[in-house]
Amino acid sequence: MQKTLKLKSPGNEQYALAVPPELSRLDKPFNGSICAADGSEFDIADNIISVIGTAPDDMSMAQSTNHWSLTAEAYENLWRKRSIGILSGDEYSLADEAALLNDWMKPREGEWFLDVGCSTGFYARSLVEREPRCSVVALDFSLPMLAKAREQGASHGAGMYLVRADARQMPFYTGTFDGIVSGGTLNELTDPQRVLHECRRVITKKGRFFIMHLLRADTWYGKLLQQGSGIGGIHFWTADESDEMFTRAGFRMLKRETKGIVCFTLLEPTV
Ligand SMILES: C[S@@+](CC[C@H](N)C(=O)[O-])C[C@H]1O[C@@H](n2cnc3c(N)ncnc32)[C@H](O)[C@@H]1O
Repeated sequence: MQKTLKLKSPGNEQYALAVPPELSRLDKPFNGSICAADGSEFDIADNIISVIGTAPDDMSMAQSTNHWSLTAEAYENLWRKRSIGILSGDEYSLADEAALLNDWMKPREGEWFLDVGCSTGFYARSLVEREPRCSVVALDFSLPMLAKAREQGASHGAGMYLVRADARQMPFYTGTFDGIVSGGTLNELTDPQRVLHECRRVITKKGRFFIMHLLRADTWYGKLLQQGSGIGGIHFWTADESDEMFTRAGFRMLKRETKGIVCFTLLEPTV
């Protein structure tokens, strides 16, 4: 059950834009716009609320490919389903990952969650499938990915708000979310530290943050592959380096599980 989502007006944060819960019913197409008292207006097309009108012009090659319909179409079935198994060299299904996510996040009735860089919405969907009485916001700056998230959400009967925005500048009020989840997005960000700071801003003081990211490889072939990905804009860190980023943003680690280079971490705000 989704409640009314409040977005900050870009012009003046004293003016909130109230997003009606009907928008989160992904099986019911919703088109139009929402307007704040200061006149700022966001378009809504097929349930997707666009806070940014176009893709940012400083995207890396990896980020640009996520704006292609072909990538969005193939992403979950061709890549995401097998990704953890391929990257970790171990058997690991989407169901295993969803179980870990829900075991650590423990979504409860009435809570609010944010999926940062949701792509086709796998984490967002997993939370709402576990606890349909929580409210979930899935954020990405790629329209084709959000369109696919809508399609997947509708076919699974999973309600959520879909927001097109830049994670470096999120349209949410401070302390909006009881939990944040993010799968694989950190490695792709042009400014990961800034996004982590934004996550700290929009999470409650007692919130929890589930983040999956890829570590720097220590085999020669892994290093070679990662050097190639670096050119495309994908970054890798050692566990110590990424922990330093989490600490700098105001988080501390509660739990960690690594499978090869795949690293799952549960964080909480330090203050
Ligand atoms: C590796 S994919 C995430 C996969 C997804 N979380 C999952 O678990 O399947 C990274 C996503 O982050 C999005 N992204 C990258 N930089 C972003 C930014 N600055 N703001 C919003 N979305 C961003 C991309 O469009 C892409 O869909």
